[in-house]
Amino acid sequence: MKKKRNENRLNVNELTQQALEYHRALLDEQEYTQLLKELDQPLYSAIRINPLKTKADAVNTWAQTYGWTLQAVPFCPTGWWVKESQTAPGQTIEHRLGSYYIQDAASMLPVELFDFEAGSSPLILDMAASPGGKTTHLISRSADQGLVIANDSSLDRITALRLILQTWGAVHTAVTNFPGEKFGGWFPETFDRILLDAPCSMQNLRSTESHPMRPISDKERLTLSQRQTRLLTSAIQALKTGGQVVYATCTLAPEEDEAVLDNILSIFGNAVEIKNLKSKLPSPAPGLLSDGSRQFNPAVQQAARLYPHRFATSGFFCALISKTAPVQGPEYEIPLRPLEKIGLKRLHPHDCENLNTLLLTAYGYDLNRFIQAENVNLWQRQEQVYILPERWIQHFGAIPFQAVGMLLGEYSNEGFVPAHEWISRFGAQFKNGFITLDAAQVTAWLRGEDIQGVFPIPDLPARTAVVFDENQRLLGRGKVFNGRIKNLLPRRIVF
Ligand SMILES: C[S@@+](CC[C@H](N)C(=O)[O-])C[C@H]1O[C@@H](n2cnc3c(N)ncnc32)[C@H](O)[C@@H]1O
Repeated sequence: MKKKRNENRLNVNELTQQALEYHRALLDEQEYTQLLKELDQPLYSAIRINPLKTKADAVNTWAQTYGWTLQAVPFCPTGWWVKESQTAPGQTIEHRLGSYYIQDAASMLPVELFDFEAGSSPLILDMAASPGGKTTHLISRSADQGLVIANDSSLDRITALRLILQTWGAVHTAVTNFPGEKFGGWFPETFDRILLDAPCSMQNLRSTESHPMRPISDKERLTLSQRQTRLLTSAIQALKTGGQVVYATCTLAPEEDEAVLDNILSIFGNAVEIKNLKSKLPSPAPGLLSDGSRQFNPAVQQAARLYPHRFATSGFFCALISKTAPVQGPEYEIPLRPLEKIGLKRLHPHDCENLNTLLLTAYGYDLNRFIQAENVNLWQRQEQVYILPERWIQHFGAIPFQAVGMLLGEYSNEGFVPAHEWISRFGAQFKNGFITLDAAQVTAWLRGEDIQGVFPIPDLPARTAVVFDENQRLLGRGKVFNGRIKNLLPRRIVF
């Protein structure tokens, strides 16, 4: 029998107790005992390495430097639990410069479910993306070679998303601000991979200060479930036949998990298939066949229901769905805003050539080669020069966006100033134009201070040097002048 959940105001402990009672009816006794035992254990934070900026073995150095005891996350090759630490993962310069992302291990599973072929450049949509944790993972898995559109319907959450993608250092991305429900009708049969990390009730049995358990009324749950079904319907319409969608929530409420998959199977029948995850999980974590009152299509058992005791994570749910045939749905006209309307124009070939010469002379960096190899082009808006992915221009160029590509730098009175995000991503490839700081200078540098000393480097664009420490850690940019280096680390990065 399905247990009715109390809608009155209850404190967090009472709510957790009530949720536990509800799930007790859905689990066998042994599993329920394991669940209770797990909830007595601390939830360890985990990090996921940024392969665009960091080699996989960097974790060993961080473990030594920061006193970390690490354990590999079994379903994510770039993920590590930090079980003990002298310096918290959120307190390091590597974190602020985007060498890794801090994330609950459960949140690393959905993107790992996708198949990516080496050398491919897939079109990817992250339909409900902010603040962008899973977007960074999509960028890593596609090696920043496809195009990842990070969309979120909440304008308030776009700044956080933009900042996280800037810090991660991706070129082949765009940020948009639309209701996810629109994509199916605007872009049918378009994307190779779509992640729907859906807005949900967050009933994950792990109450934290930032995400305490809160009461959810039956009405709210129904509204959520209907919205989730609409969003997943839109995702399936926007997906190419043969493509993959991952549906994920951080709730264990079956109405928002298996019931949504069941709805989708009823709507699309054989045109969608929920894939078996046996090869992607360390051990089975099947979806429910029933929530006590509603019987689900047996195919929903192929999903991964992460009760906390299954992989020592928060409660989580995800499923991999493939589209096996085209589907019908309403199509809508796409809103258009040509790039010229917001002042963006292709950089003149002569200016491209000048920039190439400048960066080659100063840093030994071949911008032309990068542009050709990466299928990107340089665009200018007022003084700023951006690297824009050609795939965005070809497929989506005229739809309104919040951000696209990467800032290369900007023209100033002193010449061209390379951008922090460009240097943070590509500075490690420079052959010259850098300065190495000793340990004492690094401490001051990370506090945002300028460094005194004579640093003669000729031919730097706008006197901008790349700063390293003696262990080859890239520490941003500095402006070399008058016997000192002016600290150009963004204020949000300094300690
Ligand atoms: C679970 S959060 C996403 C977390 C994110 N994927 C991450 O890993 O950092 C769900 C997001 O969905 C957004 N959202 C809510 N309704 C939406 C809609 N109709 N279309 C698109 N996004 C929506 C919310 O603003 C919220 O940022």
